[in-house]
Amino acid sequence: MSKRTVLLTGGTGFIGSHCAVAFLDAGYHVVLVDNLCNSHVNVVQNIKSSTQCPAQAQLDLVIAEVGVDKVLLDSIFLVHNVDAVIHMAAHKSVPESVKDPLKYYRNNLGSLVQMLEIMDDHGVRNIVFSSSATVYGNVQSNGVKETDALAPTNPYGWTKLWGEQMVRDTCASWGGAHGVSLRYMNPYGSHHSGRLPERPKGAANNLFPVLYEVMSGARSHVDVFGSDYPTRDGTGERDFVHVCDVAEAHVLAVNKMLDDVTCPVYDVFNVGSGSGRTVLEVIHYVESLNPGVRIPYKMVDKRAGDIASLVVDVSKAERVLGWTPKRRILVE
Ligand code: UD1
Repeated sequence: MSKRTVLLTGGTGFIGSHCAVAFLDAGYHVVLVDNLCNSHVNVVQNIKSSTQCPAQAQLDLVIAEVGVDKVLLDSIFLVHNVDAVIHMAAHKSVPESVKDPLKYYRNNLGSLVQMLEIMDDHGVRNIVFSSSATVYGNVQSNGVKETDALAPTNPYGWTKLWGEQMVRDTCASWGGAHGVSLRYMNPYGSHHSGRLPERPKGAANNLFPVLYEVMSGARSHVDVFGSDYPTRDGTGERDFVHVCDVAEAHVLAVNKMLDDVTCPVYDVFNVGSGSGRTVLEVIHYVESLNPGVRIPYKMVDKRAGDIASLVVDVSKAERVLGWTPKRRILVE
């Protein structure tokens, strides 16, 4: 029997590369599509050498921009028998989206429209959409469920919410379709091979890449944004979920689409750890993993647009997909 094929847009990025390893480990043929705007081409080799069975790994990269390179993208569907698309390609900086909303609407929504049209042209009816916890906006409670109110507070968040709706409406209009939106919390960590670190191009903004820059000496200290939030220690609290757990959720979602006749036309899942960790807890956790290393930090003003705490309920993904977040940030 020939292998099933998944197409991963944004496939050489941090989450994309980990998904690629997870799909290869699960026996899929993986086609990566990326314009390399925030990733490096040598990731492909590192994905291959991180899989359980490098000799059998079937992995292709097409350097293309979704939303732009239609002819190239069409050719992928002509050459490969794509079973499902995982659409991850997107811009993801909250502050940048506030400064330049049209860049976000054009890229994040335009690329999704084009990918859905191409899927339609080629009769591919299964899609996983990378959404984000940011669709919940400024939530006041922990244990946020998929059915809770959605109220993004920035253009990036709106592209994710509208993206979900576009997938939902399009799948409803197709016969025999399956769409899933995965709402990522804050992914961290990397594959145990050590070959797929989070390496954004340009200056890091997210907490973990900032910590890596401090540890490598590229940055003197971490600015901790806000120290009087209503949390255990006054610093922001997030639901940090290991990127390998995030990757496994994609494989389970696609397996369900392809194998489970009861799979609904559309569904949405939180992909978090289900527990919150504060910025200071994360700093101390990273120190504890690296004996002898101290991570200097300074308390500074809150970052515009940040919220105090966001922790989600992951019981739906556990129940429906059979997924469990296995890796944890331990707090002493
Ligand atoms: C945000 C978005 C999320 C998006 C992600 C990727 C929201 C609610 N979340 O996550 O949807 O996918 O960006 O860009 O909009 N921190 C510091 N110092 C730093 C960096 C971060 O103290 O140098 C703190 C932040 O204030 C926050 C926590 O660390 O409390 C996590 O921040 P970050 O890693 O940037 O992710 P989010 O802002 O939660």
